[in-house]
Amino acid sequence: MKKYEQKPLRYAVDALEPHMQKCTIEFHYGKHHAAYIANLNAALEKAPEFEAPECPARLVHHLHHVPEAIRTAVRNNGGGHFNHSFFWKCLTPNGQGAPVGELAKAIDRDFGSFDAFREKFEAAAMSHFGAGWAWLILKKDGKLAVCSTPNQDCPLMPESVVPGIEHGRPILALDLWEHSFYLQYQNRKADYIKSFWKLVDWEQAEKVYQKALAHRLAKAEGKKDGCCCSQEKQGCMI
Ligand SMILES: [Fe+2]
Repeated sequence: MKKYEQKPLRYAVDALEPHMQKCTIEFHYGKHHAAYIANLNAALEKAPEFEAPECPARLVHHLHHVPEAIRTAVRNNGGGHFNHSFFWKCLTPNGQGAPVGELAKAIDRDFGSFDAFREKFEAAAMSHFGAGWAWLILKKDGKLAVCSTPNQDCPLMPESVVPGIEHGRPILALDLWEHSFYLQYQNRKADYIKSFWKLVDWEQAEKVYQKALAHRLAKAEGKKDGCCCSQEKQGCMI
């Protein structure tokens, strides 16, 4: 049975200060994310007949293959593992401030401008009620979209198990759970959301977007490109 593991962060726990403080990362990465992985592994132990894929993105994308008895636990904790792993890679101490490459062009094409996209993303994040995530995704039709998902649901999850959310391939994610900002920002969620722009790794987002485009093309040609998370094939993005 596959045991999922937490990969190390690509930066020091205090590297994102002052926008994201060390104590937030220590609790968020060290306690909350770690707990999702422990709970995911515990759930999988209850269904030893199920062969969990190595890639957590594939696990959540194929949630309909997970035995029903543990599906809700895998949805919540597998989602929690994938979403957080993806989120950590969206961040960098050396944020470039604005999108680059083909993603920059696609943002202009689909939202009008980077400012218009940012406004839409912030509005989606602010108006999301309760725990969840804000996303930039690539939809099946090849267009970018902004959306939010509740709890640990993610746009990769199958429609048959998680209806009512926008489905697509994640390009960028922002954690909206209070555990991601309350230690530093308390009730100032808007300030937390604004601080995100200082930390976004747009070079990474461009790589993820390129992968998503390649995957879409391969699918249109009836080929498989191996990974459903748009990231590096080896271990995906995490
Ligand atoms: Fe979180």
